[in-house]
Amino acid sequence: MGDVAKIGVRLNVGIIGATGIVGKTLVRVLREREFPVSDLHLYASPESEGKWVETPFGQLCIERLNKRKIPNHELVFIAADNDTARFWGIRFAHRGAIVIDKSSYFRNKAYAPLVVPEVNADVLDNHHRIIANPNCTTIPLVTALSPLNGAYKLKGFTAVSFQSVSGAGKDGMIALGRELEDDNAEPTTFPHRIAYNVIPWIGSNSSGFSGEEKKMINETRRILALPRLPIRATSVRVPVLIGHSLAVHADFKLSVNIKRAREILDEAPGVTLIDDPENNQYPMPLNAAGRDDVLIGRIRRDRGRHSLAFWISADNLRKGAATNAVQIAEVLLANKALGKPLDNSIP
Ligand SMILES: NC(=O)c1ccc[n+]([C@@H]2O[C@H](COP(=O)([O-])OP(=O)(O)OC[C@H]3O[C@@H](n4cnc5c(N)ncnc54)[C@H](OP(=O)(O)O)[C@@H]3O)[C@@H](O)[C@H]2O)c1
Repeated sequence: MGDVAKIGVRLNVGIIGATGIVGKTLVRVLREREFPVSDLHLYASPESEGKWVETPFGQLCIERLNKRKIPNHELVFIAADNDTARFWGIRFAHRGAIVIDKSSYFRNKAYAPLVVPEVNADVLDNHHRIIANPNCTTIPLVTALSPLNGAYKLKGFTAVSFQSVSGAGKDGMIALGRELEDDNAEPTTFPHRIAYNVIPWIGSNSSGFSGEEKKMINETRRILALPRLPIRATSVRVPVLIGHSLAVHADFKLSVNIKRAREILDEAPGVTLIDDPENNQYPMPLNAAGRDDVLIGRIRRDRGRHSLAFWISADNLRKGAATNAVQIAEVLLANKALGKPLDNSIP
């Protein structure tokens, strides 16, 4: 992007969870988008303290977080588990930093907006201290549904997700690699072997829905500001390394013109159409991995004039996580919410 570099400020940035798969991607995306970083500090679990890592910003040492001496960062990205996010997110926000969190801990908190910049950047105001990044399937889903909702008024949808092993972090990628090499390897990260398998249950929940399905439902409703939208969701883990896909069947209040719907999606920010199935051109995890846009294809009428079916693939580590977080920071910079002197007076 590069536009933010022209704003003329440079920020002191911290990343918690920097040794994880999202944290590492975040460092790369900050550099690729020329995000204006003056100092970059990397944090992880106590076990990683003192390790030197090669980054696009040079060799950096993983630092230890100390709650009695919270560093003065203007911007902190968190790419760690919920408990870590809660503990440090609140402390850094009190210290005056703006915190952009990738975990699910803040996603249902009224004080923390849940943001996909292409969809609801307008909910960000300059007083927000903690901003939540949605789930890695919710982000591409709402990026596709939002422009269609604007045109045809969404009435409800069914979505089935096909989620890669990197959605479970670096351990998920290691588990798939190990199982592919060794037919006798016991499952580690997942409840069953994931090699040559699919698992129709991601994350625990007591309601009959998996945790991942609940996130897709609740977060989509919040981001689209449609709190009672009927959503039927099934989330499935598949033996793909990077890239989540979704089969979506959506119903609308207004009649859908397929040609126009295709144009709307084609023009939508952050979306690229790959839609020529007769020539075997459609989105797949393999062509989504490494890209920042949401790929949409297989667009077709579903059942009657008020419905549409389509297929999405997106890189869960980029648009599903790191890129979305950096885009939020870019909006904050453009709004001048970032780049001001640190305000340590926020209670
Ligand atoms: N992977 C995805 O596609 C994806 C997408 C959207 C959201 N997310 C969310 O993003 C977060 C990170 O996911 P990930 O996939 O990057 O996981 P990951 O690869 O397992 O990385 C976890 C990171 O958290 C760090 N960490 C663990 N305990 C910590 C502690 N006590 N204090 C500070 N750091 C600690 C780890 O450090 P060590 O290396 O030292 O253990 C590591 O850097 C999670 O909340 C996840 O749900 C992931």
